[in-house]
Amino acid sequence: MTDIPITLPSTSVATPSGSDHALLTLTNIESAYGPVKAIRGVSLEVKKGQIVTLLGSNGAGKTTLLKTISGIMDPVRGSIEFANEDITGVESSDIVKKGISHVPEGREVFPLLTVYENLMMGAYTRKDRDGVARDLEQAYRYFPILKERESQAAGLLSGGQQQMLAIARALLADPQMILMDEPSLGLSPKLTKEIFAIIRMINRDSGRSILLVEQNARIALQTADFGYIMENGRIVMQDTCARLMQKDDIQEFYLGIKQEGVRAERRWKKKKTWR
Ligand SMILES: Nc1ncnc2c1ncn2[C@@H]1O[C@H](COP(=O)(O)OP(=O)(O)OP(=O)(O)O)[C@@H](O)[C@H]1O
Ligand SMILES: [Mg+2]
Repeated sequence: MTDIPITLPSTSVATPSGSDHALLTLTNIESAYGPVKAIRGVSLEVKKGQIVTLLGSNGAGKTTLLKTISGIMDPVRGSIEFANEDITGVESSDIVKKGISHVPEGREVFPLLTVYENLMMGAYTRKDRDGVARDLEQAYRYFPILKERESQAAGLLSGGQQQMLAIARALLADPQMILMDEPSLGLSPKLTKEIFAIIRMINRDSGRSILLVEQNARIALQTADFGYIMENGRIVMQDTCARLMQKDDIQEFYLGIKQEGVRAERRWKKKKTWR
């Protein structure tokens, strides 16, 4: 048993299941804020129709990685392929057109615009009016409260409703893939469950792939098919969520399951030293 998360040798690295080709492939991505390297050589993939989760402690680089995929930041090195096309360094508005929507950390809805106007911002790259109308109706089916509040300023919504709005806005771009950054942040356990039930529905109904960054590891591992664990800008572990949930390190650090006895205490100290 290994006590600390380590990078697995390439021969034993599990990859997301499914026989089809990856929809999104990151190869050796490095991203930086000026001199500060935040992502240090990340490779990962998401297959069509999959939910993949990315877990990691504060500052691990999860948000930076999502920003790099959605074109808000350009990587310093490495490549990003989406739907068999190299999208490395492509502008964020063009990334949306290619089929990737980003639900940012902290929602970032436009507080002074109405709910409806916020949703239409999600569709700003589209010209197919019928398609937009259809997707608006679908978004309202997932989140009926948004229809009730469609004329209200988004800033007046509760945190949970703003999260719903951010997800619905992403759907209005009709994406093949949705990047979600901590959708449960600041929400009650009950609301988190509701939002995750809808995330699963969105995935199942339309086969949209989802790359899910989450602080709530338990619900993320229960929701996703495959998971990557990130520490200090690197992937340190990757496996199916079913297998990740069985690993001692994941249970201890991410699921809060304490291992009793002296051995557990020793292992803990060892990890503390390592960190
Ligand atoms: N705008 C910025 N300028 C400089 N450094 C930044 C900036 N944003 C993030 N960083 C640094 O980059 C690293 C990765 O940050 P990032 O926000 O991607 O982490 P995260 O995994 O999303 O963390 P959290 O769980 O807190 O959201 C951290 O060391 C952080 O301090
Ligand atoms: Mg973050």
